[in-house]
Amino acid sequence: MKNIILTADRPTGRLHIGHYAGSLINRVKIQNEGNYDKMYVMIADAQALGDNHDNIQKIRDNIIEVAIDYLSVGIDPDKVTIFIQSEVPELTELTFYYMNLVTLSRLTRNPTVKEEIKLRNFETSLPVGFVTYPISQAADITAFGANIIPVGDDQLPMIEQTREIVRSFNSLYGETLVEPKAVLPELEVCRRLPGTDGNAKMGKSLGNGIYLADDEKTVNQKVMSMYTDPDHIKVSDPGKIEGNVVFTYLDAFSTDEQIQKYAPEYKNLQEVKDHYSRGGLGDVKVKKILMGVLNEILTPIREKRAYYEQHKNEVYDMLFKGSDDARMAAQQTLDAVKKAMGINYRDILKK
Ligand code: TRP
Repeated sequence: MKNIILTADRPTGRLHIGHYAGSLINRVKIQNEGNYDKMYVMIADAQALGDNHDNIQKIRDNIIEVAIDYLSVGIDPDKVTIFIQSEVPELTELTFYYMNLVTLSRLTRNPTVKEEIKLRNFETSLPVGFVTYPISQAADITAFGANIIPVGDDQLPMIEQTREIVRSFNSLYGETLVEPKAVLPELEVCRRLPGTDGNAKMGKSLGNGIYLADDEKTVNQKVMSMYTDPDHIKVSDPGKIEGNVVFTYLDAFSTDEQIQKYAPEYKNLQEVKDHYSRGGLGDVKVKKILMGVLNEILTPIREKRAYYEQHKNEVYDMLFKGSDDARMAAQQTLDAVKKAMGINYRDILKK
């Protein structure tokens, strides 16, 4: 079997270190290992319109921001097809046919969708376009025959939904679509990084994110105001590690070498944690380690970003070329789907 990998992001804002930990690192790693036949990275602008149809400028502006974030973290357009969802209209057509295979109650049972409905106050007036987005996600995945989908854990219900659609389609119309598998980050803490305020989700609307494009000063300020242990008041007090965002981020991002570099009296993160739990280690000192670690990751990303910000046309050319390439692949799947369903009239009706 071929290995085809697809990942995507909604262009509702710049990407943050939650995206980095949960998905971007993984994508670059997979890309560089090269054990795949094809890899796609999609900017899900059409999906993002589901709750931003009255603010299209935001989505339009963020397409380039997300593309620059991709290039800055090292996603390489020579190895990966980066494209814009709405540039591939075949995805919409596939969504329309898949809609017949899904019930409304199944959609509203989806835990991620449920949570998003609450967050957006959609309980009493739920836009059809929004609630059906998991179906369009099934189209995104199946259009390219993608079987490996690296995601954070909030996307698991979407992959499950896609698998159900694939099974229904194949059993009704014959083996046509490929069932995908989700791949989660190996490190559990990377699967859903909390916000700087301790909220379980990092997000733009929550104002609790650290962005790949943030400069050093901003990152340091955000780290300084980060949620730690509210009962750790005096340095001598014993501190709690669990739920302490500074330690969560250190778990996600730091290496032993970095701990030794930024706090030479410790060999590894466990020793820092032990000292903090015992008492006698202040928040500021731990935060300084985190600042060092984060800025070490973000500095090269910022440097690349600065280049692409000056060369946006290069980025747009890359996106449109990628979109043409993606469209050709999706067209083949759409042809196969219509043939399986027997609605390829031009081939079958006129003999
Ligand atoms: N819903 C995903 C997110 O918000 C983005 C997405 C759209 C996606 N289509 C996809 C992810 C297909 C994986 C596969 O992050």
